[in-house]
Amino acid sequence: MVSAYAELEERMRGRLAGRECLYVPSCRFGLYLALRHWCRPGGRVLMSPVNDDVIFFVVLAAGLRPVQAPLDPRDGSIDTAAVPDSVWQGLSAVLTTNLYGNPDPAPGLRSRCDRSGIPLIEDAAHAIGSTVGGRPVGTYGEASVFSLSKHTAAKAGGFLTLADPALRGELAAARDALLHPTRAAAELAYLTRPYAEAALRGLRLARAARATVRLLGLDERKEIRMPLRADELARALPAAPALDPFDSWVRVDMHDYRLRPGAGRLRRTTGKLARLDDVLATHRDGTARLLASEYGTPGAPREVAQPLFRVPLLVEERDTAIVALARQRITTGYVYDPPLDRYAGEAFTEPSAAPGPAAWFARHALPVDPRHADEALAVLRTAGIRPASHLSAAPEGAR
Ligand SMILES: Cc1ncc(COP(=O)(O)O)c(C=O)c1O
Repeated sequence: MVSAYAELEERMRGRLAGRECLYVPSCRFGLYLALRHWCRPGGRVLMSPVNDDVIFFVVLAAGLRPVQAPLDPRDGSIDTAAVPDSVWQGLSAVLTTNLYGNPDPAPGLRSRCDRSGIPLIEDAAHAIGSTVGGRPVGTYGEASVFSLSKHTAAKAGGFLTLADPALRGELAAARDALLHPTRAAAELAYLTRPYAEAALRGLRLARAARATVRLLGLDERKEIRMPLRADELARALPAAPALDPFDSWVRVDMHDYRLRPGAGRLRRTTGKLARLDDVLATHRDGTARLLASEYGTPGAPREVAQPLFRVPLLVEERDTAIVALARQRITTGYVYDPPLDRYAGEAFTEPSAAPGPAAWFARHALPVDPRHADEALAVLRTAGIRPASHLSAAPEGAR
């Protein structure tokens, strides 16, 4: 029987030079599968502290201790050279983030992982279409995971991709064992969501729309970071590796993250993926305009015109900028401040050996959707937002 995912997987394979692709209902779920396959519980995983907190909880759910990496303050990528030898010793894996689509230095990380004999796992959620070292992000690791909720805006789905195609059967079985069965109510909510969102925009908080948003788990963040609930988290830790005890953290923003998709959901997702190249072209265009502005990062180590998911403009008054944009109905999401070591503390993570540059980046980065480049720039200029004086103001360790 042809798998229901075959068309989606074939399309993705074409983007990744024929690499084996396995459909998963979300990137977070794919990351959990990868961490469970490649890392023994109790291990330590190097990751970026400027990251979605959901991913932090996925690492904990996999029974692993997160180790926060030093970052390059220009674009939030992992600063491999600043990771001390003592930290490399005893690591189980490196998990990249490719924040906003800016690639982590995968070629260097690949060789460093090879020297240490540990796997590289790429979180390519933000980086579909980005390249590094002349290859797509997501083609360096033993595993890489993509999200179809970002550029493709399918709000569901993703891919776990594998360097070794022979592992497909084993990982597909692990996926199927963890999936929850399709639920008619969830499918209906998914399929009607665009209409609910249109109602939200048009009528403000119409009651039905508000209920749908609640049902979809989209109202759990009152602040940038979700509440840690340290006592509950400490009680959940001994149950790892397992998803259920961590569900209330891992599901935030997407309650369907481990739901087997229905036919309607797959159809919509396939259609969105088919249009991806047009979306990427728009992102590339807006990225170029934003980076060329006074808020861009001239010294950043990037290849030409990546189709960034969000462009991290570096500004002095980040929170004022968010308010000014909101007044013009431009919503800023994907702000990851404070860094995870400051958010969670040493009870739950090994802090970065050099936290300054990451904290500086987290504080000043304003993620702007490149599709709204011109409107966003106009708002920032009118509001008198100043570019961050990055290279001179960045802390010790920044280049
Ligand atoms: C860096 C990063 N990785 C992974 C994810 C999770 O993706 P998904 O919602 O498909 O699980 C997110 C979600 O925003 C993210 O920001």
